[in-house]
Amino acid sequence: MDYAGVDGRRTDGSAAGEDGDVVEPLSAFSDRAVASDPELYEAFAEEGPAAWRRAADLLDWETDYETVLDDGDPPFYEWFPDGRLNAAANCVDRHLDERRNQLAIRWFGKRGERRSYTYLDLHREVNAVAAGLRDLGVEEDDVVTLYLPMIPELPIAMLACARIGAPHNVVFAGLSAEALATRIDAADSSYLVTCDGYYRREDAFNQKSKADNARLRADADLSATVVVDRLGDTLDAPLGDDEHEYEAIVDAHDGETVEPVARDATDLLFVMYTSGTTGRPKGVEHATGGYLSHVAWTTRNVLDVRPDDTYWCAADIGWITGHSYGVYGPLSVGTTTLLYEGSPDYPDRDRVWDLIERNAVSVFYTSPTAIRSFMKWGAEYPEAHDLSSIRLLGTVGESITPKAWRWYREHVGGGEAPIVDTWWQTETGAISLATLPGITPMKPGKVGPPLPGIDARVVDEDGEPVDPGEPGYLAIAAPWPGMLRGLREGDERYRREYWVEGEDGWRYRTGDGATVDEDGYVTILGRVDDVINVRTHRFNTAELESAIVGAEGVTEAAVVGDGDGKIVAYVTTRGDVDPDESLREAIGGRLARAVGDVARADRIVFTPDLPKTRSGKIMRRLLEDIARGDEFGDVSALRNPEVVGEIESAVREM
Ligand code: WTA
Repeated sequence: MDYAGVDGRRTDGSAAGEDGDVVEPLSAFSDRAVASDPELYEAFAEEGPAAWRRAADLLDWETDYETVLDDGDPPFYEWFPDGRLNAAANCVDRHLDERRNQLAIRWFGKRGERRSYTYLDLHREVNAVAAGLRDLGVEEDDVVTLYLPMIPELPIAMLACARIGAPHNVVFAGLSAEALATRIDAADSSYLVTCDGYYRREDAFNQKSKADNARLRADADLSATVVVDRLGDTLDAPLGDDEHEYEAIVDAHDGETVEPVARDATDLLFVMYTSGTTGRPKGVEHATGGYLSHVAWTTRNVLDVRPDDTYWCAADIGWITGHSYGVYGPLSVGTTTLLYEGSPDYPDRDRVWDLIERNAVSVFYTSPTAIRSFMKWGAEYPEAHDLSSIRLLGTVGESITPKAWRWYREHVGGGEAPIVDTWWQTETGAISLATLPGITPMKPGKVGPPLPGIDARVVDEDGEPVDPGEPGYLAIAAPWPGMLRGLREGDERYRREYWVEGEDGWRYRTGDGATVDEDGYVTILGRVDDVINVRTHRFNTAELESAIVGAEGVTEAAVVGDGDGKIVAYVTTRGDVDPDESLREAIGGRLARAVGDVARADRIVFTPDLPKTRSGKIMRRLLEDIARGDEFGDVSALRNPEVVGEIESAVREM
């Protein structure tokens, strides 16, 4: 088995999962936890798919479902197939009776601006935008691309789309024009919502020019573009004939109501492009009913969120975490969600703690990458603030070391708050492995057992469960409600990319390597395919490498993560080319154009050759070990063992 680069070692010297401590939930928490009945695990095991009624029944259905799961044509599973509902009605309208004046969104902008929306405000603006989109010609099932930073208009546009049954296709604002064009074409989208620009630290970035560029590159003809005025007078973006000001649309349709369109539970709610095992991003499709049920259930039972919380998921809405736990999860359960546009260290390194204190945030959900930065900056920043409002902490996106786990609990959670280490993916739609914080003991550095109702297993190549402690592949052996309903690229690609038919049925491949302990707690080792997770973004190595190889004079490239949130690119050049600063810049420029600034290579290492096996395969694992400064094993089986020393010294000199 090839576990290239998935040995679970971490840069702080400790390994994920190593430690052995068991931390019991405190009764102060458990006594009031949303999920408090240990029988829940058994109930799900006994009832099978029907147990997921608990999740679906958290929602309002326009037409009640009778069937929970149609598994007649695996792996094309349909959840709640005869039910009908509207996601926006579930996230907005149904809260109006009980909490119309409660805040739904509290927004903090980069320049210190604030804006708050009650559920009533949200209802008003979502309706106006929905009416405006319809007026522009958007019909049910038309895909609308949203290319916006972390401003309230993004969740509002998502909900407006959902209201009229138009699936959204959110593209992370930091991606390049080329990446946007690819996603507009691949999603077959004729409508775009973007903005004039946005701030990064002090600087204003021109988003509109990226969008314009994408339009020129895209094959598709956009029928209409809506432009949010984020920068005011700072940047005047002249609008063309088929371009419309967001603010003008809201004014023109203010006060109108648009009847939420009842969607089949299996109808598309959104598409989200993500990196897979091949160079082209895949369009992951999520269905309305199963997705929203799973997201609402986990927001309640894993993140323990209730309506009277102020909840903050720090992830960007441009990625799946922001979709599920920044927008649909919190709003479907009727809580107050905090939306933050800025950076965690601006104006100072206590910005996050200051926001938590001032807003009495009770549940905070972030990534190990962020926690690592907080640790580096020092405990004095959180300690300068009263964080006693925190009741629960969450983490997602990569493994957290026991050391970081303890730091997070001690300095942010007051030594008491439970931490839920949540494992899931763009494709799973919602949290799939995690402890139930009021019930399940925690093991620092280990994700935990699968949630009730999720049949996740660590298996070998043949699908047989591996022994405790042995590395294997994380697989899911039965469908779950939040699962992708398919890929934009078609059924065949969906089946091939994710599913294996074994003797005892179909099994979903997660692409992750893992181990499991005697108690069923899973430790994630990392990806076993060509995907790297850095800075909470997911990239396909081939996508980055082909961008680099496009630079004049470059012959080969290999990209790895350094385990500390950075991208390291190893690059070989033609003999007559001098690998200098200008080549570095050219490579940086190619990456920024092809993918976006988020894909910047933090280190570019020029090397005469890349280490390869005799069959010519690049030894990524070795390159990753070198990038991390880790020990690596015997290299004598390589075709070119002599390059290893050269690469190592090149890395050390940087
Ligand atoms: C990784 C993000 C370890 C994993 C929600 C997965 C994790 C990929 C964890 C999905 C965790 C996510 N511990 N690794 N708690 N959560 N991952 O699609 O490799 O952006 O396959 O979804 O992130 O990344 P994606």
